This record gives sequence, structure tokens and C-alpha cells, in this order.
Amino acid sequence: MAAIDISPFFPNTDPFVDLTSHDAYTAGTPHATYARMRRESPVVWVDESDGSGFWAVMKYRDIVDVSRLFDSYTSRQGIRLEEMTPEETESRRTLMEMDPPEHTRLRRLVSKVFTRRIVEDYELQIRNLAIEVVDQAIQNDEFDIVIDVAKQLPMRMLGALMGTPDADGDHLVELGDALLGNSDPEFTDHVVDQVDTDEFRMMPFRSPAGYELFDYAKQQAEMRRDAPEGDPMRSDVIAKLLEPTKDGEPLSEREFQNFFALMVAAGNDTTRYSMAGMFMAMIEQPAEFEALRGLPDDHEAWRLATEEILRWTAVTTHFRRTATCDTELRGQRIAEGDKVVVYYPSGNFDDEQFPDPYRLDLTRTPNDHLTFGRGGPHRCLGEWLARMELRVLIQEWMRRVDTIEQAGEREYLRSNFISGIKHLPVRITRR
Ligand code: HEM
Repeated sequence: MAAIDISPFFPNTDPFVDLTSHDAYTAGTPHATYARMRRESPVVWVDESDGSGFWAVMKYRDIVDVSRLFDSYTSRQGIRLEEMTPEETESRRTLMEMDPPEHTRLRRLVSKVFTRRIVEDYELQIRNLAIEVVDQAIQNDEFDIVIDVAKQLPMRMLGALMGTPDADGDHLVELGDALLGNSDPEFTDHVVDQVDTDEFRMMPFRSPAGYELFDYAKQQAEMRRDAPEGDPMRSDVIAKLLEPTKDGEPLSEREFQNFFALMVAAGNDTTRYSMAGMFMAMIEQPAEFEALRGLPDDHEAWRLATEEILRWTAVTTHFRRTATCDTELRGQRIAEGDKVVVYYPSGNFDDEQFPDPYRLDLTRTPNDHLTFGRGGPHRCLGEWLARMELRVLIQEWMRRVDTIEQAGEREYLRSNFISGIKHLPVRITRR
């Protein structure tokens, strides 16, 4: 077999990683395996230890097609590898586990507060948070940049947008970690594949943190309803979510709780690990980033750089669909009921779409990466927020910090769903 040629910056060089294994991802995103699969078996059946299995979809074009064809590939039976009973699926259903037109209705209700324009109104607040956190971290010459910077920001930034108190940020981070980090013992005592989590099977991510998030969301909704006329709470993002739309239809209480939990799960770790990956790239390829230093904040180069960082880091490894009919994909016959799983980071390094894909090119254009999904109704709702968070952080970082180097072992999250660096000790010099 010809050697698998991937970037020296991706440490997981095993071309035969078991994609279902949480442990496999502690060595980093398995890019060598993705590359081999794109070349040898771009749509292939993967067995799971419980006797079931799924079709893994590795090529850019096919990932877009599966996302687009929601009639043939439903989200209703779950979007992760985990199998759920119909009862569990129903109780845990969020926006992500719906198809149009049910999805369209709910998405319309919540997307009004995540548009590019609305998010841009919060840039100053988000920038001030970035300044505060970076200034605090760089008082030391050495620190863990994931813990002291990347972990601090996304939840507080999302909180600033939604209108939750900044002081609740740490608690929400913990809850979000327990959900998305449900396979990593560092983040939860209820590790899904190691202890019995049956008691929580009706909650998001089979996690007890779901109860706390539901309670928190309920309190936040009550505070909006009880706030006196003229109180800023009456017009913040949560208040807007609870407002009836023009046709008189508000989110139900359960819909709001589910959506709140979804935002905390979807908007916290994903952005944190994208930031961590960005710092790793900066450590390994500093010259690429130097070219940005000193450019005005609204320069196009920052926007292009952010897109390339997103392509390069692609932290959400997969989303799953289920075939609703017998169909065919790249010559493979998919049967009704089969699980079909798309691997976004694999699509992001498909050389049929991205020339020289293993080169981090901060000026790359076009750059229609798959990091937020593409082509389908579920494209990431928080994409504009996440982009702004990353761009603002890198700008404020480069204003203050001259050099950054790795100062200890990096550690990766134990999860086959989100891949990211959870610890990254660094040494810096200030400007
Ligand atoms: C860099 C950070 C992020 C990444 C990599 C990411 C990635 C994704 C991906 C891959 C999807 C599924 C796309 C599809 O099925 O076609 C998604 C959906 C979603 N994301 Fe993000 N996301 C990020 C940040 C955020 C943030 C900050 C929020 C905060 C609100 C958020 C909220 C959501 C929601 C609510 C959905 C479900 C949308 C739907 O089903 O209609 N995400 N995200």
C-alpha cells in the first residue's frame, strides 16, 4: 500500500483507527485513517461492537449530498452513533433530531437571534471578554492555554449574547462539558461506555447535567416573564426566543429547555476546541499567522484566516443520519434503516475539493469547508457567532503576545464525536 501522506502536524498517523472507539481519538483526529478511507473505500460499512454498524461517508461531495437529501437521510432517529430506543429519542429530541417541515418551524423561531447581523451587534461585548481573559492569562509566562483561555471564552461569549449572568459562566461550562464530554472521565463521573447511565437515558447525552440545564433554563425563562417593563431582560436574546412570533406562536417551555441545553452543548466545547486547535496551529506554523499582525480588524485577511482555521480544526467529527429508503451512494447499496455517518474533517481534507489540503493556507479561497455542515437544513446555527469568537480572539491575542511555544504534553479529549485538545501547556512572550 502506498504511504498515506498527511500533514506532519497531525500526530495520529495510524491508518487503521477504529472510528467508533473513543480512546482512538486521544491520539488526535485520525487523519491518516480518513485519508486511507477516502482513497480506498470512501463509502464503507463499519461494524460496531454491539453487532450493529453504519456506512461511513468520507468524501466531500457525498457528505454534502447526504446532508442535502433529508428525505432519504433522516435526522429523526438520532445524529450520533449511539442507538436510542424510540422512547429515548422522543424525550431527547432537539432541533438537530428533526426533519423539515417540523425542523423548519422550530429553526425559524430560534434562528432570528443568530443571524450574522444580530451577532455583529455583540462584537464589542465579545471583544471585551476576549481582552479580559487574554490579559488575565498572559500575566503568567507559562499556562495551559485551553484551560485559561479557550475554555473561558465560548460560554461567557454565548452568555453575553443570550443575556445570562456572566457569573454563571463557569457553572454552565461545567454542565456543557458533562454533556459533550460524556465519554471522558475528566468531565463526568457518568462516562457513557464505562458506567451504567440507564437512569439518565431520557436526558440529553444520557447525562444528569441535563436536569440542571433544564432547571437553569426554566429559571431564566421565569426571570424574563417576571421582569418589570423597561428592564433590559425584557428585550435580550432569551426574551426574544420566548416572544410569540408574528403568527402568534412562541416556543413551548419544553422546546425552550431543550434548545437551551442544545446551545450550551453545541456552542461551548466546539468553539473551545476550535480555539485550542488554532493555538496549536499558531505554535506549529507561526509564519502563517505573522502575516496577519498589524492588519486592521476589519481587513478581509482575518476573515479568510478564520475560515481556514475552521477547515483545519474541524472539531465535530461526525453527524449521523438514517436511510429512509433503499438508495445508493457512490455505488454502495444502502438499505432502508441503515445508519449513514458523515465525517466532516475527512471532507475538509479531500483533495478533489481543496487543492493541497494539508497545507494551512490562511489566504485560501474559495474555502467552502464542512466544519459547520453544508447543503442541508441543519447547517450550524451558531456559525456566525463561532466565527466572530475565533476572529476576535486571534486579533486580541496577536496584539498582546509576541511568541508562543508548547511547554508540555498536549492531551486530547476522549470522544469519537468531538475531537480536540483539552490541555495545551504553553510558554509565551508578551509584546
Ligand atoms: C466552531 C464551533 C462550532 C462548530 C465546529 C459547530 C459545528 C456544527 C455542526 C457540524 C453542526 C451540524 C450541521 C449539519 O447537521 O448539517 C452544527 C449544528 C448546530 N450548531 Fe454548531 N458548531 C459550532 C458552534 C456553535 C455555536 C457557538 C452554537 C451556539 C448557538 C452552535 C449551535 C448549533 C445548533 C443549535 C445546531 C443545530 C442546528 C439544526 O439542527 O438546525 N454551534 N454545528
